[in-house]
Amino acid sequence: MCLKIQFIIGSFLSVWSAQALEMSVGKIPFLQAVNGSTVTLPCTYASCIGIENLYFNWQFNDNGTMQKVCESVIPSEGVVPDVTIFRERVEFVGKNHQNNVSILLLNITFEDGGQYTCFGRNPKEHHKNHSAIFNLIVVDELREVDNTLTIIIASAVGGAIALLMGFMLLKNFTLFVLTKLEEKNKECLVTSSGIDNTENGLSGSKADSKPTPKKK
Ligand SMILES: *[C@@H]1O[C@H](CO)[C@@H](O)[C@H](O)[C@H]1NC(C)=O
Ligand SMILES: *[C@@H]1O[C@H](CO)[C@@H](O)[C@H](O)[C@H]1NC(C)=O
Ligand SMILES: *[C@@H]1O[C@H](CO)[C@@H](O)[C@H](O)[C@H]1NC(C)=O
Ligand SMILES: *[C@@H]1O[C@H](CO)[C@@H](O)[C@H](O)[C@H]1NC(C)=O
Ligand SMILES: *[C@@H]1O[C@H](CO)[C@@H](O)[C@H](O)[C@H]1NC(C)=O
Repeated sequence: MCLKIQFIIGSFLSVWSAQALEMSVGKIPFLQAVNGSTVTLPCTYASCIGIENLYFNWQFNDNGTMQKVCESVIPSEGVVPDVTIFRERVEFVGKNHQNNVSILLLNITFEDGGQYTCFGRNPKEHHKNHSAIFNLIVVDELREVDNTLTIIIASAVGGAIALLMGFMLLKNFTLFVLTKLEEKNKECLVTSSGIDNTENGLSGSKADSKPTPKKK
């Protein structure tokens, strides 16, 4: 349900801000990858008013200083631009195909891990800056991040079930106690009717007294 709401808000915002240029690194703005592997840093742009000589670059935040990874000017949509690459083991794979400006990092090292910014500026909208940030986490072996989440969810569900069972046990116990109390009340009613009986007994004694005249 949360996801749905997020999606609705997300699409509302994208409709609302679609006028301007928008850089997007996708729904999941981070990636965990093993050293030595090859990864794609995703980025696409979108603009309602269209682009003309769109300047874009990728920057790597190296300990606070932004290092250009690559840069280019895209004359128009659908044109494969010439991209200048400043770093080793980097390829421009987006090729501006469907506004795709993704890059490929080959044979990643631990030093490649960090924050990457996909930056864009459209002269059509008075050189306003737009960017999106993607995080690359380099590990020496994939840790099962999802598993911990599954365990958390499982234990939460388990806890909820335990709580529910506890509640039901408590409910049953309460019902049991209530039934017992009711039984006791019935007993009380019985005893009160017993009192009636004693009254009857009294009348019985009257009845007993009746035979006395028989004795007469
Ligand atoms: C990744 O890093 C680990 C630990 O530094 C190393 O043992 C391993 O050989 C590396 N793998 C690759 C493919 O570079
Ligand atoms: C990164 O920054 C820290 C302090 O902010 C500094 O001590 C360290 O030398 C820096 N490392 C590099 C490689 O620049
Ligand atoms: C962008 O291009 C890359 C490389 O071809 C591809 O892996 C990725 O799926 C593309 N992204 C979109 C949104 O089309
Ligand atoms: C990948 O990088 C490691 C060290 O970082 C190097 O030994 C290896 O030859 C590289 N492989 C390729 C295919 O570039
Ligand atoms: C846009 O980014 C450039 C650097 O690429 C910077 O010099 C400029 O001040 C930024 N403009 C705004 C309005 O943020």
